[in-house]
Amino acid sequence: MGDPRLWETSAEVDAFNTPELHGLLQDMQDTMAALNGAGLAAPQIGVPLRVVIFGLDHSARYPDALPVPRTVLINPVLQPIGDLQDEGWEGCLSVPGLRGLVPRYSHLRYRGFDQFGKPIDRTVEGFHARVVQHEVDHLDGILFPLRIADLRNLGFQDVLFPGQALQDD
Ligand code: NI
Repeated sequence: MGDPRLWETSAEVDAFNTPELHGLLQDMQDTMAALNGAGLAAPQIGVPLRVVIFGLDHSARYPDALPVPRTVLINPVLQPIGDLQDEGWEGCLSVPGLRGLVPRYSHLRYRGFDQFGKPIDRTVEGFHARVVQHEVDHLDGILFPLRIADLRNLGFQDVLFPGQALQDD
């Protein structure tokens, strides 16, 4: 946070299944794995393209949440279902050490493409919906602190959740 590239709007991908796109995804997957993230967006590694990855088998933050399938999502379009939102604690690999309580739509339809150009169309809820909204925000230059209604709900991870190792998006 502080790098102006994180505030920019990213461009759509116009060619799938290319060496450049596969190389970008490899870099993103390596970065997410090395930092124990639950998701990552291309602008977080300095590439202004509408590409996100996410997925996790188990969430320390949401121990009861269902696993989120490992997904490559390109040129995403989000469509909230209903007005219901819930608040949940989020972190971000671009905002290390901090946690914030962020409202997100509870139910969400999202569409896009994988790296081969195959369409994706899913209707999800809960933590899965939260992760997608967090990652797609990165493509529009939005970091989670901008979504916090009351900045008293922003704090250091080790103060808010002492002794817990949490995953970042
Ligand atoms: Ni993030």
